[in-house]
Amino acid sequence: MHSTRNQGPGTKNQIFISKSEEQTRRIGKALAQQLKPPSVLCLYGPMGSGKTTLVQGIARGMGFHGRAVSPTFNLVREYRTWKKTLYHLDLFRVASGELYQLGLEDYFSDPKGICVIEWAECARAWLPQDRLEIYLAVQQNGLRKLKFRAGRIHSKKICAILI
Ligand SMILES: Nc1ncnc2c1ncn2[C@@H]1O[C@H](COP(=O)(O)OP(=O)(O)O)[C@@H](O)[C@H]1O
Ligand SMILES: [Mg+2]
Repeated sequence: MHSTRNQGPGTKNQIFISKSEEQTRRIGKALAQQLKPPSVLCLYGPMGSGKTTLVQGIARGMGFHGRAVSPTFNLVREYRTWKKTLYHLDLFRVASGELYQLGLEDYFSDPKGICVIEWAECARAWLPQDRLEIYLAVQQNGLRKLKFRAGRIHSKKICAILI
């Protein structure tokens, strides 16, 4: 895993370059092992950039060995252990009126919750301040760039550990 460090004022950005689907899963797995609930992770990036693949790694890192799939029909998928619950949200198809019914705040405030949101920009106004943002992009050579950006203290600690 190749990593470089950018330092901007007040933020901590961390960039990973992933060469394969499996490597993206490993990044997710490593990340999951550092996550303490309640946590909110926001994933941004075009279709096919690797968001769901990263969530599969996160699920694996939390001890789930089944395949995490995109929650196409019900927007949210839950994976429960006795200590933590992974909420995998995909808001690509959400209508703005539907966001109210989803009860996002309940997911975000679940003391056992690890919330990972694909297309988090669709819920911008709802997102908590302390969130970890991950921007995924497909590079010209097909590699994936994952840029981590931490919100407040809790997320900054995670970024710091991942360096
Ligand atoms: N480095 C990589 N990381 C993640 N996916 C990759 C990578 N290289 C190629 N891929 C392919 O890109 C696709 C990513 O799909 P997916 O994770 O569902 O994206 P998204 O959820 O962002 O739409 C998969 O078909 C995967 O095999
Ligand atoms: Mg997806």
